[in-house]
Amino acid sequence: MRIRGSLLVGLTVVAVGAVMAQAQDAAQPVGTMGELMTSMVYPAANDLLLSIARGGPKDDKEWMAAQRSAVLLAESGNVLMMRGHARDQGDWMKNARMLVDAGAAAYKAAHAKDANALAAVDAPINASCVSCHKQYRPNVHPPRS
Ligand code: HEC
Repeated sequence: MRIRGSLLVGLTVVAVGAVMAQAQDAAQPVGTMGELMTSMVYPAANDLLLSIARGGPKDDKEWMAAQRSAVLLAESGNVLMMRGHARDQGDWMKNARMLVDAGAAAYKAAHAKDANALAAVDAPINASCVSCHKQYRPNVHPPRS
């Protein structure tokens, strides 16, 4: 009886593993990394940074726009972590996570219409782009010899 019980537990673990693998594969990459950058990451970051540079959103419409850009920026970080987009499970994931965190902080600030909190996100947004590009975009940041 004991043996049968543990066999059943073992099979359940295998089945759960299979379901989880399937769930991950449900997300299928569409664009190239460059396209992801130019269609999601860059426009979202650019809109936010531009708004911050101009002193922050001026009215409800601009706060809503900032909130939308923040959602897009944060979620684009999640897309970068997808299988098929992620280059590795180490530094790549850390850099993508920085983008999610910066976007989430921007979202929170825009939701609260807090200009100071939004301005504070400027540095972390830039840091995430630069740290990932330094390592994974060697044509732009040539490795020092
Ligand atoms: C997790 C890694 C990662 C993060 C974070 C990241 N990038 Fe990128 N980015 C890349 C890689 C890799 C490329 C090179 C893509 C290629 O050419 O194949 C790239 C390329 C680009 C390009 C050029 C695209 C092209 O087709 O020429 C732009 C623009 C860009 N990134 C903007 C940004 C901005 C802005 C941020 C921050 C808000 C950012 N990226 C954050 C990995 C990242």
